[in-house]
Amino acid sequence: MAKVLVVGGGGREHAIVHALSKSKKVNEIYAAPGNAGIAKLAMCVNIKDTEVDKIVEFAKAEAIDLVVVGPEASLALGIVDELQKNNIKVFGPTKAAARIESSKNFAKDLMLKYGIPTARYEVFENYEEAMAFVKISPFPTVIKYDGLAAGKGVVIANNLIEADNALKDMLLDDKFGKGKVVIEDYLEGPEFSFMCFVNGENVYPLEMAQDHKRAYDNDRGPNTGGMGAYSPLPFIKEADYDFALNEIMKKAAKALVNEECPFTGVLYGGLMKTKRGIKVIEFNARFGDPETEVVLPRLTSDIYDAFNAVIDGKEPVLTWDKCATIGIVLASKGYPGEYKKGFVIENADSDDIYHMGTKIDENGNLVTNGGRVLFAVAKGDTLEEANKKAVKLVSEIKCDNLFYRRDIGAKAFRK
Ligand code: AMP
Ligand code: GLY
Repeated sequence: MAKVLVVGGGGREHAIVHALSKSKKVNEIYAAPGNAGIAKLAMCVNIKDTEVDKIVEFAKAEAIDLVVVGPEASLALGIVDELQKNNIKVFGPTKAAARIESSKNFAKDLMLKYGIPTARYEVFENYEEAMAFVKISPFPTVIKYDGLAAGKGVVIANNLIEADNALKDMLLDDKFGKGKVVIEDYLEGPEFSFMCFVNGENVYPLEMAQDHKRAYDNDRGPNTGGMGAYSPLPFIKEADYDFALNEIMKKAAKALVNEECPFTGVLYGGLMKTKRGIKVIEFNARFGDPETEVVLPRLTSDIYDAFNAVIDGKEPVLTWDKCATIGIVLASKGYPGEYKKGFVIENADSDDIYHMGTKIDENGNLVTNGGRVLFAVAKGDTLEEANKKAVKLVSEIKCDNLFYRRDIGAKAFRK
């Protein structure tokens, strides 16, 4: 029987812990730091996901059989390299391979060199040079900070003033730290997320999902970290799927091998179906959040076995429930702007509710503790049925300070 440690403490990690808890081979699950929902399935240890040394010490002391890393911040710090040095088995890419997410410049150069379709781009370190380029570019234009920026490093500038503000923030005021920017063409079309297990050149696709970035129904309101997701995707036809797998994901895996930083773990393609074909918006070096929360509930094979197979260079068994899943985020009123915390939550005990930002307060109550608080997932024979069930599940949760979207997946089933 195995002991597993999951690094991270959001909805994604709750879904990973939930999937691991179904494995007959796993009898102890730890999470660092975990959250109030994860605590029902795993032992939460008070170590932050960025405290790499402490995580390594804990894994050694507890003789952990497998570590699964959720967040990009831990990967970019080299948590996988450190665990490997200490002979601890880990599912995730090395620091060098994780650059496909932690450096937009690295990812774009890789795509250009290996013919992976993406928006045209230029890289700048100097504010004046970047502004000179923007002045001769069409709007909207897309400005991206090169490094990790917790999802806030991308600005779609509609005019010169917006571009100027973004470039000042990134290159003069070092809002996200000292670094470069990538300026790229604006693309249009539906976005979708394609996560694949990867070991070197071997690529094993998971089911696809789509995130919903805008705060309110009908894609109105500000951009957020994601307000809901669904799987599978009816608008992805067989030819789209084959292209995304062969011309994007497999090429990217091979490119990383050629660059001598082979990838092991889950490679996330943030893709867009444009009129001119499928193109890469970004790569991530980890499970997507909230996509993972709608994809893993459809997995019917053992995830612990799959993680081990991938690490050992073998083909994992991945089988899927044909059902549709829809997941709805319950966010604090005000999110993605300012919001208050500490509101009591009731009726959120279902196994189908993942915790994103919660805690148990001093009175033992479950309370809100973040912008995105809970993620309620429902299964159905169709997306429409799953949506109805998810909305019902959400409407039963009692809390004074949460809002949510009712239209997750609706574009896919409303004609
Ligand atoms: P990223 O962090 O690179 O995924 O960017 C965040 C979001 O910005 C994406 O999910 C897209 O909605 C949008 N975005 C990024 N790059 C582009 C682009 N070249 N064209 C249009 N939208 C983009
Ligand atoms: N859902 C987008 C991400 O995980 O980055």
